[in-house]
Amino acid sequence: SNGYFTYDPGFMATSACESKITFIDGDKGILLHGGYPIEQLAEKSDYLETCYLLLNGELPNAAQKEDFVSRVMNHTMVHEQLQFFYRGFRRDAHPMAVMCGVVGALSAFYHDNLDINDPEHRRIAAIRLIAKMPTMAAMSYKYSAGQPFMYPRNDLGYAENFLHMMFATPCADYKVNPIVARAMDRIFVLHADHEQNASTSTVRLTGSTGANPYACIAAGIAALWGPSHGGANEAVLKMLDEIGDVSKLDDFIKRVKDKNDSTKLMGFGHRVYKNFDPRAKVMKQTCDEVLTALGIHDPQLELAMKLEEIALNDEYFVSRKLYPNVDFYSGIILKAIGIPTSMFTVIFALGRTPGWIAHWLEMHSAPYKISRPRQLYTGPVQRDFVPMDKR
Ligand code: SDX
Repeated sequence: SNGYFTYDPGFMATSACESKITFIDGDKGILLHGGYPIEQLAEKSDYLETCYLLLNGELPNAAQKEDFVSRVMNHTMVHEQLQFFYRGFRRDAHPMAVMCGVVGALSAFYHDNLDINDPEHRRIAAIRLIAKMPTMAAMSYKYSAGQPFMYPRNDLGYAENFLHMMFATPCADYKVNPIVARAMDRIFVLHADHEQNASTSTVRLTGSTGANPYACIAAGIAALWGPSHGGANEAVLKMLDEIGDVSKLDDFIKRVKDKNDSTKLMGFGHRVYKNFDPRAKVMKQTCDEVLTALGIHDPQLELAMKLEEIALNDEYFVSRKLYPNVDFYSGIILKAIGIPTSMFTVIFALGRTPGWIAHWLEMHSAPYKISRPRQLYTGPVQRDFVPMDKR
């Protein structure tokens, strides 16, 4: 017990690892980063300040924040040759496939002179990854759109710069709407870290072998891609597309409840939250704000809200404690901003980078052993080899 939270010895004996970064209470729907509730960070902080908190365990003072923001915004360019990695992909390659490849390729550019046993080198790698992810993410979109890559601009804010690299072209600048930039920044905050989820556990497990941080983050991106994890935001929009309109909701819910049908209500349910995901509440509020401010009437928002209302009052979902998670409303905001569905999980990976890196740094901050999960063997007992003529 650390005076706040007490775990039974059995849990501690089996838990994957201890961490100071993020606390989740799935029954109460609580998410804290460094002790600060996600609702307060989403409303009062911003993404780079949250990145600083995840990496250092404390909110920065004004001078610390200015220095951190400057270091990040002055490392946003990627090595010019990295562009050639994109050109090896087909134009219709999924941006997550591109990100797995290109982020892993950073090892070939920045790893050689990196000594992961040197804390300062590890912090430089952390800054580089947080700084370069938006550039690489935007490049994966530009490549798929057949448009020229846009260079980052150090004079813009973090979210503004990402939107600039996504939507500006050499022929026309992109005027970033402050409401859209604020919503984008808040979406990054809401995705920044989430304890020992599948992709973060992947980063920690990969890091425990001594692999370089770029390879570890590439492994995290690969794990995030699955529809049960970060791929769910893209799957929610596909689900809403397939349902079509509110008249089809009852049939859809019937299919979800049918034991013989594998249809799931994407954006609902969670391994830990058996109550509302606090991020989903903020995301829904942000969704309302952005669509209203932009004067967008999106029938899919109404469809999602109706679906949520039905599910929250249906015994199948209530008895299984299935509530909306972070992915249920995020796609509707991203679509309103003009981001294509194929980029939704890339946005999740971008937002989650400081969390992955913070866990990688935390693992390196003390002596560690290679992760080696054990198993319960259920195969055949030992037996002798059978020659071919006896099989
Ligand atoms: C993320 O771990 C993290 O923190 C992840 C994440 C993060 O920030 O890193 O929070 C991000 O990954 C959020 C989850 C996004 N995924 C989805 O929205 C996909 C849809 N959700 C499901 O695939 C599912 O809810 C999971 C994968 C999220 C959790 O699956 P579990 O662990 O099997 O859920 P469970 O044990 O609570 O399931 C209990 C029952 C089962 O039915 P029975 O066998 O009891 O009859 O509920 C059913 C499940 O089949 N169920 C669902 C469902 N989720 C669970 N039925 C229909 N629709 C769903 N979405």
